[in-house]
Amino acid sequence: MIERKPVTKAVLPAAGLSTRHLPAAKAQPKAMFPVVDKPAIQYVVEEAVDAGLDDILIVTGRGTRAIEDHFDRAVELEVALEAKGKHDELKLVREITDMATIHYVRQREAKGLGHAILTAKQHVGDEAFAVLLPDDLLTTPVLRGMLEVHERTGRPVLALMEMSPEEITSYGCAAVEETGDGLVRVTGLVEKPAMGTAPSNLAVLGRYVLTPDVFPAIEDVAPGVGGEIQITDAIAQLIGGGVYGFRFTHGRYDTGNKLDYLKTNVEYALARDDLGPQFRAFLREVLDR
Ligand code: G1P
Repeated sequence: MIERKPVTKAVLPAAGLSTRHLPAAKAQPKAMFPVVDKPAIQYVVEEAVDAGLDDILIVTGRGTRAIEDHFDRAVELEVALEAKGKHDELKLVREITDMATIHYVRQREAKGLGHAILTAKQHVGDEAFAVLLPDDLLTTPVLRGMLEVHERTGRPVLALMEMSPEEITSYGCAAVEETGDGLVRVTGLVEKPAMGTAPSNLAVLGRYVLTPDVFPAIEDVAPGVGGEIQITDAIAQLIGGGVYGFRFTHGRYDTGNKLDYLKTNVEYALARDDLGPQFRAFLREVLDR
């Protein structure tokens, strides 16, 4: 196997306008919406760190200052918690800051996900990197698996999950073939295919391992769906050089729209040792009413 420099950088695009979450997202970024008691984006930073990526670049936009504050030291809060002897809370607050080195870059115009990823070009340099979309929370080690496929191939890797024909119209869609040596090769990519035109039932979910050749591809690609620069279209240009898929079947929770956000909160609350049993009893009682 060829020795490759391990991937250490993760890019988290968090500049989007969050129109699906209005009015709640008017003055606060949706990446800061809590899932039980933690902002969505913190789960995603933790996932990156767990997969060995400790250099995090968050792409910010207008109105995302709260994200920077969340990952920054909160000295007054720490002093207050210390004075009150609230050691568990102090530990929680400190852990957020100590978790990883977090950098920020501003996406000055909302021109789409591809454009957001392009703002990471200088920080990423000539290395492979991961992209994690903070809307998607994953509870299975998908990113680790993707990094292993990248280690074997040196090429981009996309997280793929089966969706219904109705659902696939909201996602990037990948046609694939098995290579025979346990790999899944991507043979076609379409962003948000119209109903009945999807080339497969596999959706690209919010995790990508990308190689630096994606940057010229993004620069080259014309605006696509919604008039935006789509990362799916840029990756489609790389298929000739090899793009791989990592299929997974469960453990993905969406926070990008109201209903899925609510479902995700219920699932995460039920899974908690401290809250789950009481919350379950409460839900039963509500449903029986
Ligand atoms: C984006 C991507 C899409 C991908 C999806 C995953 O879409 O453009 O290809 O499948 O994230 O969540 P968005 O949800 O921003 O419309």
